[in-house]
Amino acid sequence: MTGPTMKALVCVGPPNLVELREVRPPFAEQGDAIVRVEAVSVNRGELHRLMSSSHFGWQPGWDFAGVVVRAPGGTVPAGSRVCGLVVEGSWAEQLTVPTGQIARIPDNVSTEAAAALPVAGLTALRVLRLRGDLAGQSVLVHGAAGGVGRFAVQLARRAGAHVSAVVGSPERARGVQQLGAHEVVHGLQGLRRRYDLILESVGGSILCQSIDLLAPGGLMVCFGSSSQAETTLSIADFYSKQAIIRGFYLLYDIVREAPAADLEYLLKLSADGELVTDVAAVADWTDAASILSRLRARQIAGKAVLRTCPPSPRAPVGTDE
Ligand SMILES: NC(=O)c1ccc[n+]([C@@H]2O[C@H](COP(=O)([O-])OP(=O)(O)OC[C@H]3O[C@@H](n4cnc5c(N)ncnc54)[C@H](OP(=O)(O)O)[C@@H]3O)[C@@H](O)[C@H]2O)c1
Repeated sequence: MTGPTMKALVCVGPPNLVELREVRPPFAEQGDAIVRVEAVSVNRGELHRLMSSSHFGWQPGWDFAGVVVRAPGGTVPAGSRVCGLVVEGSWAEQLTVPTGQIARIPDNVSTEAAAALPVAGLTALRVLRLRGDLAGQSVLVHGAAGGVGRFAVQLARRAGAHVSAVVGSPERARGVQQLGAHEVVHGLQGLRRRYDLILESVGGSILCQSIDLLAPGGLMVCFGSSSQAETTLSIADFYSKQAIIRGFYLLYDIVREAPAADLEYLLKLSADGELVTDVAAVADWTDAASILSRLRARQIAGKAVLRTCPPSPRAPVGTDE
């Protein structure tokens, strides 16, 4: 390859799914910032996309945290620590991103925590928002020990909801109650309530059983299929309750409304100690294949982060610098 190059993780198919390769640096469109990436996170949706891809050579990656190299009109000063999301290709040394998709990272938030926040945090926030004011409402969170789930539990509790959290195994209950869940269950049998809002991302029989758990007029938001199982449901189970089932897809939703302000809000909560990001695994990006394999085997309880380079120095907490 002639001309300038940079390193990026590229889809190569099974068994490793990704490989570090030399690629062309991205071209900045008008309104784009250029960011030197320091850390990225790995989402289950990316794993599914890599596993199901029949063409290779494309560059995966949504979340990132890094340092601004250049931003249009000085909107964000060069050298600022930022995090954000792109539709493709964040698992790279450098990326270009519309400034509406980044936010500055407060000094006391680590680069790893910031990299883990955008996709999972924004999904949790925006899915919860679909129900409006949650004060006094009952919310059921499936996959509560996962990336989106942990943020959803905290944000729902913060909004004044009664929160029931469903985890995949008794061991995965650890820490979820401390995030604010009123109850943490493994399996749906023990649940007595009916829910105003259900966050459904597992699919298969869980989705069907969850319809039973909807309150009259309740809303179930389907935004994932972690089990990748097919779902057969009886329409009669939910129309009689005048319930609503709707979908959510963040990468479309950020076109409807740019995410910078929501990202700033989540980062402020993090900086104030009101939102915990459980980074369960941090690895160098040369170990991406192993992290993907652990995620697939459900061995990561929280967010997984890949470092693309050593962290840049940042001001100690409590200084103005
Ligand atoms: N539509 C969107 O815009 C959007 C955005 C973000 C995420 N998503 C989707 O939302 C889901 C959660 O994403 P995430 O990044 O938070 O994933 P994650 O960290 O891997 O969490 C997934 C959770 O689902 C639970 N789960 C239950 N049954 C499972 C099964 N059969 N296989 C795998 N996991 C199972 C896991 O339980 P254990 O803890 O017991 O393993 C885990 O807590 C994924 O399906 C993802 O694709 C969608």
